Amino acid sequence: MTMQVGVGLLGAGTVGGALIHRLIFESEAVAAKTGLELVVKGVAVRDKDKDRGIDIPAHLLTDRPFEVVDNPDVGIVVEVMGGLDPAGELVKRALESGKAVVTANKELMAARGRELLEVAEAAGVSLLFEAAVGGGIPIIRPLSESLAGERITSVVGIVNGTTNYILTRMVEEGAPYEEVLAEAQRLGYAEADPVADVGGGDAASKAAILASLAFGTWVDGDRVFREGIEDLRLVDIDFARRLGYTPKLLAIAEDSEEGIAVRVHPALVPLDHPLASVRGATNAVFVSGPSIGELLFTGPGAGGEPTATALLGDVIMSARERLAGTQVRSRIRFASGCLRDPAGVTAKWFLRLTVADRPGVLARIAAVFGRHQVSIKSVWQEGRGDVATLLLVTHESPEQNLSASVAGLSALDVVSEVATVLRVHSDEP
Ligand SMILES: NC(=O)c1ccc[n+]([C@@H]2O[C@H](COP(=O)([O-])OP(=O)(O)OC[C@H]3O[C@@H](n4cnc5c(N)ncnc54)[C@H](OP(=O)(O)O)[C@@H]3O)[C@@H](O)[C@H]2O)c1
Repeated sequence: MTMQVGVGLLGAGTVGGALIHRLIFESEAVAAKTGLELVVKGVAVRDKDKDRGIDIPAHLLTDRPFEVVDNPDVGIVVEVMGGLDPAGELVKRALESGKAVVTANKELMAARGRELLEVAEAAGVSLLFEAAVGGGIPIIRPLSESLAGERITSVVGIVNGTTNYILTRMVEEGAPYEEVLAEAQRLGYAEADPVADVGGGDAASKAAILASLAFGTWVDGDRVFREGIEDLRLVDIDFARRLGYTPKLLAIAEDSEEGIAVRVHPALVPLDHPLASVRGATNAVFVSGPSIGELLFTGPGAGGEPTATALLGDVIMSARERLAGTQVRSRIRFASGCLRDPAGVTAKWFLRLTVADRPGVLARIAAVFGRHQVSIKSVWQEGRGDVATLLLVTHESPEQNLSASVAGLSALDVVSEVATVLRVHSDEP
């Protein structure tokens, strides 16, 4: 016997379209596996006449999204329209009126997740967001449920497929950033406005969500330190490779005695590190804790079909809860906590300098680092006549010490340019 649950969708784009296709045309497979008949009761879009490549019955379509939320036949609202407004108010209204909500909207969850989860709790319904991070990779439920008993110490990964695709092509083909970005936009891998991806904002939203779930302390997306990949140049990629590194845009969340630090930035990853081999649009997330050691979650981080699988899993979970009449499975509790000042967070650093090629230069440079307690791990130099390119990798040191060193180096007459400063990610001390 199958049990019927009404589903309303807010959005029928890349992700919503893939989900609707599964709900309408593959409903038998879902019913056979779950005993649930998930019935689409309404679909909100901006333009009802747009060709979507799928046959959505006309009577289901509306350009008034509140109609879907207020439809009494809808028990589960799937928000896949994106953005903060009107998505936030629609989700809130759905929850307040006792409907379960499933969303893929990382921007909304990072900005208003805590508030909306509280609304859900007060209403006794669930707000699920597996699809908001990692596309088709199950990472939200493992963090919030399977690993609820673990004291997670860090979550580190590649969570933005667009930037990983761009970096992969820059590294493997030696193609310049602007050229790869333009092609990614042409192929639909990057948005027409790529700022959220290349500037690190999308990854920062995901890092905030992962950190909140991992550490039980709510982290607002806009408080996550972020640097994008826009300034990465082929010359640095080439030099980094000679030293045994490749660039990745990393999301890093750490919980230590000093507090919680959450950041997104490009980092040079050793070529033998597992994250170095994560290519193209694939995502990969390491979760570490004292009892589990290290877990790796990897797979397709975006795309309509993988993301629809994550959404469908949440819809099925919500439907089961509704039919069982149970209150939401596990409750996620969040403390309020302070994030560490990024200036105090330590990293290893890679620097590329243009310096005078004469005796004594290296000693003066080393003295500047020494004055600011930054210890040099390795040095590599290539002469070019009167000047030389100097590559340095430091041991762990706080950002503020590194910044002071850079200021000191820039003031030296033998240093004509501190061309590049990048963090180095490695598990070694
Ligand atoms: N694309 C991915 O691979 C991916 C992966 C994971 C998560 N997500 C998240 O999933 C969400 C949707 O992404 P997407 O790529 O599917 O976006 P999309 O292709 O742009 O689709 C958005 C849909 O929402 C509709 N819509 C937008 N604003 C609306 C409004 N005010 N009223 C009614 N309908 C509205 C659009 O209608 P029209 O079609 O008429 O314009 C469209 O159908 C976002 O939060 C995104 O971050 C996406």
